[in-house]
Amino acid sequence: MTKGGAALDDPSRTAAVDRSGMLSAVAGLGGQLRRGWDLGRSAACPREWGDPQRHDAIVVAGMGGSGIAGDVVRALLRDHARSCIEVSKGYALPAFSTPETLVFVVSYSGDTEEALAVYEQAQARRCRTVTVSAGGRLRELAEAAHGVHVDLPADAPMPRAALGYLVGGVVGFRGLMEPDPQEVAATARLLDELAARWEAREPMGRNEAKGVAAWLGERTPLVWGSEGLLEPVALRWKNQMNENAKIPAFWSVLPELDHNEVEGWSPDTAKGVAVIALRHPGEHPRVAERFALTIELASSAGLEVREVHAEGSSPLERLFSLVLLGDFVSTYLAILRGVDPTPVPVLTDLKERLRR
Ligand code: PA5
Repeated sequence: MTKGGAALDDPSRTAAVDRSGMLSAVAGLGGQLRRGWDLGRSAACPREWGDPQRHDAIVVAGMGGSGIAGDVVRALLRDHARSCIEVSKGYALPAFSTPETLVFVVSYSGDTEEALAVYEQAQARRCRTVTVSAGGRLRELAEAAHGVHVDLPADAPMPRAALGYLVGGVVGFRGLMEPDPQEVAATARLLDELAARWEAREPMGRNEAKGVAAWLGERTPLVWGSEGLLEPVALRWKNQMNENAKIPAFWSVLPELDHNEVEGWSPDTAKGVAVIALRHPGEHPRVAERFALTIELASSAGLEVREVHAEGSSPLERLFSLVLLGDFVSTYLAILRGVDPTPVPVLTDLKERLRR
């Protein structure tokens, strides 16, 4: 680990560590969202599915870097959707699924066994099934069944670096989400601006993403989000710390953490942990009050807390602005630690062993 973060301003070191170009993939989030949304909107689907907003339930199934798209979609749709939304991360389609249930099976590679298992069950139950992938077995199965498929570009180096495509492809699908295309376009523009602010060229002194990575240093991140919009973002930060920076990380959300986690912090237990608090102006007023009090309590128990704030005015902008910040921070942390952020050798080995 390079101390102090100065190494992040050294382009040759960045290039030597980030060999597969995760930083540039991260910077493409805005463009991906735009493209994914267009692809989702233009996906053809059977007329008998009727009103695009009416389904008895919506299930978004997927794992890891694809599964997080389901969490994001649920958080975005929570205040709009007329159907209950379930995120399924595993082998089983929820028992309530019927032929009127809209099931998105999301796998960037198209080859994830849990997603393929859910696809089979959704077909067997004649659900309104939409596959979302950049190829793989999932696309082959969908094509053979003349099913509805959102075909994503395959240019992201890893599924977790394809979140814009994945989320755009689902929320854009037949206008499932209320925001008009202008909101998506505005979000994509904001993400492009933020990427320019946080890219490697911008020096430590005026680059928030580098600053947060250096501040975390060797400590274990604990990411606090809040009910609703920033719940999936806290999980995303945690997952990106695991997969990009190759470190353990944890997450929780307010108000729930006020009912358990706060009891666990003391100068002894707080050693080596640093809290990132994700904030946005649309928090429930009591959550905002709780944040102030919880940070005060945590600080007096010896935890260092750093707040980071969402940008933009719409929920879509706020959610994605903090996703982007976490993506940059975790990548910079990987560079500081001298590990290539892109490959996930342990995960790859695990998948390989399960395949044998
Ligand atoms: O980020 C990753 O590489 C993983 O978390 C994958 O997303 C996960 O293993 C599932 O693969 P896929 O997204 O291709 O379905």
